[in-house]
Parts: sequence; structure tokens; C-alpha cells
Amino acid sequence: MSNLLSPVERYYTSKLEKFGALPAGVDWNSVEGQSKRFEQLSKLMSTDAEFSVADLGCGYGALLDYLSQRFNRFSYVGLDISQAMIDAAARLHPQVSNAQFLVGTKPDHKVDFAVASGIFNVKLAADEAPWRAYVVETLERMNDFTTRGFSFNCLTAYSDADRMRQDLHYADPCELFDLCKRRFARNVALLHDYDLYEFTIIVRK
Ligand SMILES: C[S@@+](CC[C@H](N)C(=O)[O-])C[C@H]1O[C@@H](n2cnc3c(N)ncnc32)[C@H](O)[C@@H]1O
Repeated sequence: MSNLLSPVERYYTSKLEKFGALPAGVDWNSVEGQSKRFEQLSKLMSTDAEFSVADLGCGYGALLDYLSQRFNRFSYVGLDISQAMIDAAARLHPQVSNAQFLVGTKPDHKVDFAVASGIFNVKLAADEAPWRAYVVETLERMNDFTTRGFSFNCLTAYSDADRMRQDLHYADPCELFDLCKRRFARNVALLHDYDLYEFTIIVRK
């Protein structure tokens, strides 16, 4: 694992140990906020046809439950850098035949779609420049292993200055929109209208 991600892995593993397989265990404030994020990100999969999806930074697999309530035919692979998260996800979803959970940062095969909720936020002591490079590299990787598109969220640089923290990364939505549009696809949506200090980008190929 990279020098940037090792401390992040320890951070999330300790959250899970402290709070268990609940939103607080993946560092979210509430189940409502977690679902609101899934609602935005899953606009990517506006289809009745069968699809495959990779969930990058799956935590304990809450997105799988969300998708299962809305879509009938899909296969899911959840990936996380934390073994403890993957163990919790597998324990919570023992009977789900269309799903697998693996430690890692990318699937070993191409998928139709990929979703990443919350993986770019906690940078801890990392400097801004390498963290930004990591965000771009990760988006390039998501582009490489998907055939139909991907979606992700980031904390917004438009957050109130007095509430911003040194250990978190606040991305410029306009910059990432521009990058996605120029580099990945013509059809890109920027969603910044759902009352959290963050935005979602949807890239449709
Ligand atoms: C904020 S939590 C969100 C978990 C889940 N997506 C959810 O919304 O319930 C972020 C998760 O991503 C994992 N993670 C962070 N960076 C990652 C990366 N580059 N690749 C895979 N997993 C990552 C962390 O271990 C953590 O479990």
C-alpha cells in the first residue's frame, strides 16, 4: 500500500473498531447523509438492464444494501484497503450470491460502472499536492477499469472556511469537472445541490 494510504487504512480500521458496522464506523455523521450520498452516486446506473458495479472504498458494504433495494439484476464487487472493513462487509452479507468483497483498490476485471463514496476526503498529514495527484490517478484507474462510467464524491472547496479541517481534502468541483470532461467523457454531471459540504461527479462514457 502507498505511503499516503497506510495511515488512511489505520484511521478507518480504528473507526470501525470503535463504532462498529454503522455510519460512524466509516466516519459518516448519519445514516441519512450516507444514503443521500448513495442516492447521488447511483444516478449513474439509471438502467433497467443488468449491470456490474465496483464499489471503491466499500466500507462494511452499505451501498450493496442500498442498490439491492433499487435494482434487481446486478453483480457487485466491494473493494477496501482495510481488511477489517472487508471482514465486516462479508460477515454482514453472507448469503448475497451476486456480491463479493475484496481487499484492494481495483477489481481484477473490467466492470460496467464504479462508484467511490468518501475515499478522497481524509488525507490526514499528507500534503495537498501529492493528495491531488492521488485523486487524479485514482480517477484515471476508475476510468480504465469501467466500460460505461463512474461516479465519486469529494468534500467541496466551497465549504465555510471556519469549518474546514487540516486533515481533510476539499476539492475544487470546477477543476474536477473540467478534468473529467476533457479526459474521460463528453457526458459529465456535477451535482452540488444536495445540502452536504460536498459534491458528486458522474462520468458517463
Ligand atoms: C468514508 S468511508 C465510506 C465507506 C462507504 N463507501 C460508505 O459510504 O459507507 C471510506 C472507505 O474507503 C476506504 N478507502 C479509502 N481510500 C481507499 C482507496 N484508495 N481504495 C479503496 N478503499 C479506500 C476506507 O478504508 C473506508 O472504509
